[in-house]
Amino acid sequence: MRLRQCHNFQDFRRLAKHRLPSPIFDYIDGAADDEVTYRNNTSAFERCDLIPSVLSGADKIDLSTTVMGQKLDMPFYCSPTALQRLFHHQGELAVAAAAEKYGTLFGVSSLGTASLEEISENYSCPQMYQFYFHKDRGLNKAMLDRAKDANIPIMALTVDSITGGNRERDLRTGFSIPLRLTLKGMLSFAVHPLWGINFVTHEKFRLPQLESHIGLGRNATTTVSDYFTHMLDPTMDWEDVEQLVKIWDGHFCLKGIMSADDARKAADIGCTGIIVSNHGGRQLDGSSSTFNQLSEVVDAVGDKIDVLFDSGIQRGSHVLKALSLGAKAVGGGRYYLFPLAAAGQAGVERALRLMREEIERDMRLMGCQNISDLSEENLRFR
Ligand code: LAC
Repeated sequence: MRLRQCHNFQDFRRLAKHRLPSPIFDYIDGAADDEVTYRNNTSAFERCDLIPSVLSGADKIDLSTTVMGQKLDMPFYCSPTALQRLFHHQGELAVAAAAEKYGTLFGVSSLGTASLEEISENYSCPQMYQFYFHKDRGLNKAMLDRAKDANIPIMALTVDSITGGNRERDLRTGFSIPLRLTLKGMLSFAVHPLWGINFVTHEKFRLPQLESHIGLGRNATTTVSDYFTHMLDPTMDWEDVEQLVKIWDGHFCLKGIMSADDARKAADIGCTGIIVSNHGGRQLDGSSSTFNQLSEVVDAVGDKIDVLFDSGIQRGSHVLKALSLGAKAVGGGRYYLFPLAAAGQAGVERALRLMREEIERDMRLMGCQNISDLSEENLRFR
């Protein structure tokens, strides 16, 4: 299978699976416990139907949207995800280049393998910096200061990861940083020699957002779950976050809000956005799908702050359904990670192009010219 034969999420996933050693594929593809929430995130869209309007007379379709002060050319963005150079040696730089080409937002992770400065100096896509609240308050302050110095326009604090989700696929393969594999995991690397050659012949694996503070990936072996459990502060509360919002003094959003009540509290402490997200089903299995929660969150705060949305997105029609319920923009993680793993920058560009075409085609078929033409009126729940 080749890149040009990839026409949708499942095609990219298959190609990535073919190219990647299985511990790495399973880290991307996997989720918590029985992965019920992971599956429900996508199947929730199938319980809701779009109702098109015909003969609208629309000519040009405008896909632009504005989130937290940033104008995007399309309402789909690249959600923050960790460790991208493990998936393809071009890592975050490939995703930033593709996001720039399609005029959309790129979420850069605290666990990114390229620095936020390198990305902001070289690519014009608006950047959202994904931030974790560490036990070490000095580290938190230093990370905020550094992001301010790099002129990052949007800060996104992840609030659903105060302890590690139970990713059983990673336990079975021995996925960690650096890799400490089980025998089965090692065998899979042996049968994917190209991945290994690319990994060792390109820039060294680093975690530049964190490396001056903690030894993650340098002299200690850590799993992502251990990092969440041991380095992050499980006692983080609304007062802590209110402080951060004040210190940041700019667009600040919380990633991982699932209830109307929490959305109201976020607005009350000065956040300018929230991301309705359950971390792609990778944290609390059994949690509601994000699509089920979107309506009540938008009803609570949609007129005060920007509501973004992620988890489970595989199609342009999923994006349209979330926008119809009032999301301002919709993000995907695995949606661009499989293409990255499959083919680097060319893969991510193809995935974003397909997404833009799907959204545009579906908007036309719906009789909508602008994002603001979409509303709850054009949805029916079964
Ligand atoms: C994960 C983190 C790092 O889900 O966001 O693996």
